[in-house]
Amino acid sequence: MAGSLDLPGAGPAGGVRDLPDLGPATVGAPAASLTAIAAVGANGVIGDGQGLLWRLPEDLARFKRLTMGGVLVMGRRTYESLTGALRGRTSVVMTRRPDWRPAGECEVIPVTGLEAAAAVLAERSGQRWWVCGGGEIYRAWWPYTTRLELTELSAAYEGAVTFPPVDPADWRLTDRTQREGFAFAAYERVAATASLALEALIADAA
Ligand SMILES: NC(=O)c1ccc[n+]([C@@H]2O[C@H](COP(=O)([O-])OP(=O)(O)OC[C@H]3O[C@@H](n4cnc5c(N)ncnc54)[C@H](OP(=O)(O)O)[C@@H]3O)[C@@H](O)[C@H]2O)c1
Repeated sequence: MAGSLDLPGAGPAGGVRDLPDLGPATVGAPAASLTAIAAVGANGVIGDGQGLLWRLPEDLARFKRLTMGGVLVMGRRTYESLTGALRGRTSVVMTRRPDWRPAGECEVIPVTGLEAAAAVLAERSGQRWWVCGGGEIYRAWWPYTTRLELTELSAAYEGAVTFPPVDPADWRLTDRTQREGFAFAAYERVAATASLALEALIADAA
């Protein structure tokens, strides 16, 4: 596994980051990595089930730059809420409807469950793996999520769809860039449990 298996602390594809002090160099196979990417209101709200709650062109540009070339796992509702095509990326759309077919010309792979999605990831081990929402899908993949790339908005928003709480006991902030009204923040899991769970899920699905 190449692109999706990064050394702990490494930044996103194409990004340059200060690495946290991890002590002596890690020996052996790199750990499996799955990154959730989201824009989150100060109260944890990410959506209202309709369109976008805010307009942040820099956030959209960053999403495109970070995820380009990767595999994007998302829920059917999020996929259907997208206004633009996700060119240059593979979209794995989770739905329990076996007959659901995507509209659009980009590469979209419908899957009916976590294991089927993991099988696609296993086949695409050279690409970076992302979880792109929405609320149901962030939660479904939370036990396997090893990194977060968040756009943290300063304001609270009204909406029923939320991002899982980011407990500082479980997540280490590795990078933060403040902007007017929001910040880009990256986190990595403190414990190796999620990475191990992800490796087991992928191995079973392969
Ligand atoms: N701010 C952000 O960064 C961000 C990012 C993404 C989305 N959002 C927002 O989030 C909202 C959508 O989130 P949501 O929670 O309502 O929906 P969602 O997570 O996008 O999609 C839910 C759908 O995924 C399918 N699904 C869920 N679990 C599954 C499983 N285990 N196996 C197979 N299929 C499964 C089901 O599709 P079927 O009904 O077809 O079976 C379910 O209805 C929107 O408002 C969107 O704008 C915000």
